[in-house]
Amino acid sequence: MRTHYCADIREEHIGQEVTVAGWVMSRRDHGGVIFIDLRDNDEIVQLVCDPADDIASHKIAEEVRDQFVLIAKGFVRARGEGLENPNLKTGKIEIVTKSLIIENRSLTMPFELDDERVNEEIKLKYRYLDLRSNRSHKIFKLRSKATIAARNSLDKQGFLEVETPILTKSTPEGARDYLVPSRVHGGEFYALPQSPQLFKQLLMVAGFDRYFQVAKCFRDEDLRADRQPEFTQIDVEMSFCKQEDVIGIAEKLLYDIFSGCGFNVPETFKRITYGEAMEKYGSDKPDMRYDLSMVDMIDIFARCDNEIFANLAKDSKKNRIKALKVPNGDNIFSKRQMKGFEEYVRKFGAGGLGYFQMKEDGLKGPLTKFFTQEDIDAIIARSELQVGDVVFFGAGEKKLVWDYMGRFRVFLANEMDIIPKDTFEFLWVVDFPMFEVEEGQTKALHHPFTMPCLDENGAIANREDIEAIGSIAYDIVLNGYEIGGGSIRIHKEEIQKEVFKLLNIGDEEANEKFGFLLDALKFGAPPHGGFALGLDRLIMIMSGTSSIRDVIAFPKTQRAQCLLTAAPSSIDETQLDELSLRIRKLNK
Ligand code: AMO
Repeated sequence: MRTHYCADIREEHIGQEVTVAGWVMSRRDHGGVIFIDLRDNDEIVQLVCDPADDIASHKIAEEVRDQFVLIAKGFVRARGEGLENPNLKTGKIEIVTKSLIIENRSLTMPFELDDERVNEEIKLKYRYLDLRSNRSHKIFKLRSKATIAARNSLDKQGFLEVETPILTKSTPEGARDYLVPSRVHGGEFYALPQSPQLFKQLLMVAGFDRYFQVAKCFRDEDLRADRQPEFTQIDVEMSFCKQEDVIGIAEKLLYDIFSGCGFNVPETFKRITYGEAMEKYGSDKPDMRYDLSMVDMIDIFARCDNEIFANLAKDSKKNRIKALKVPNGDNIFSKRQMKGFEEYVRKFGAGGLGYFQMKEDGLKGPLTKFFTQEDIDAIIARSELQVGDVVFFGAGEKKLVWDYMGRFRVFLANEMDIIPKDTFEFLWVVDFPMFEVEEGQTKALHHPFTMPCLDENGAIANREDIEAIGSIAYDIVLNGYEIGGGSIRIHKEEIQKEVFKLLNIGDEEANEKFGFLLDALKFGAPPHGGFALGLDRLIMIMSGTSSIRDVIAFPKTQRAQCLLTAAPSSIDETQLDELSLRIRKLNK
């Protein structure tokens, strides 16, 4: 229907006849001559409908409104002196129409395209219109480019793309499952995969050596700006590998994805251990684009005159006293802001927020009276304080302190506006603990198929202290987001059984849920490991948006609804009967 895309028409076409097709972005009637901005999937070109050139198309142009679909034929001419538009690729030319067809009309738009102030619910209801915007087109081009770059990179590295089932059995990644009732087996359910974890391990047992998949995953969990119930992973697994090999593949893959999309990134990434990440940044996904970090003060506080701190400091395994220095903070923050900081951390369970200010005449602050001069000097030295610096303190149970001080670090960075835009800071977080104990319940920090650290006899090391058991697991962090994670897997049945036991999963339950995996491990399972990248999160960061919904064509709301199709929705009695289901409404 067209001879050219709008973006391709340039000065070299001046004098030529072209046909373009697209949507009307604006129409301006300049006393007789009508100008139309026509946009196809990429760019705008200006149509000029002058009755002196063609009466018929000018008449049609009078009817044209925003978002009508037009096919326009005309000749290209240079725009007049001073009328060029440097913001458009086609800004030096225009098309004088000789024929104009209204291919379709449009109702008045419920919102202006590319207007960022529009309520998100309206945009999601008319998602196909929101997707028509320039911004969305850019994002989805990037997403397509990145996905193709990932496929090419893995193909070159010898990985085979294999699809795994969507109707399957529960795969524990720590969230609730989405369930699908079976018609044929009334009362029984499939689970949608939280990830292809178990199938990719089975493919290793099958001798596939290197597998990947651009895989849809489903998790029924609390949604946030970086979480959707339905999302995509670039899922990777390989055999006969060590952690170092997997890390090498992931770095190459990310390098290829970013450079394939025109971004400059390093070929290898920095690494820190989980322990260091928590102690210094209070998070297992620290944003490394800025410096703020914490130091330990518990030994110094143990000697202070304040009973609360001194008591806390007695148990340095359970508790932490952490100091976060803000260079020049004394000159940056007002008294009111400092009060606000305390309110902020209290929201996350902090009892309070102590601070010292480094003045010309020494360390000042409500807490200094509890310390000897020697210990004040120790505090200054430990935090390397200069005149003008402020240092904040968090004290309490270690997980609580890590959490609120970690959040406070991010909060401060935003307050001080020190987060550089357009940079990518990758980080590997390695050496995760195998388990965490929460409210007396032992959980796998990654998943139960992760290889725990073994001693020289091949048994699980540090078995006597469950929280001290290490694992060969790693996460990839980018600008403070977890964009991927993986591990070396257990390939021996006896270790897998042992891990289930430590997780309080009995033999019967293990067999019922994962019997097929335990069986497979008996048939020559090779050593193997892998990782998965969260593609949506990756694109979100690459495209500089802060909502994952922007990079998913048809996303769900925070309440897991699709406003476009109105899913989820109820089903009729016949369908319920077929599925052997009856709805019982609970008063929740
Ligand atoms: P994990 O659960 O860490 O690992 O998931 C891998 C990556 O997927 C992304 N991700 C999500 N993105 C959007 N919405 C969600 N609800 C969501 N949940 C996770 C994150 C995360 O880093 N099977 C293992 C991988 C492995 O061990 O190989 C797994 O799924 O970016």
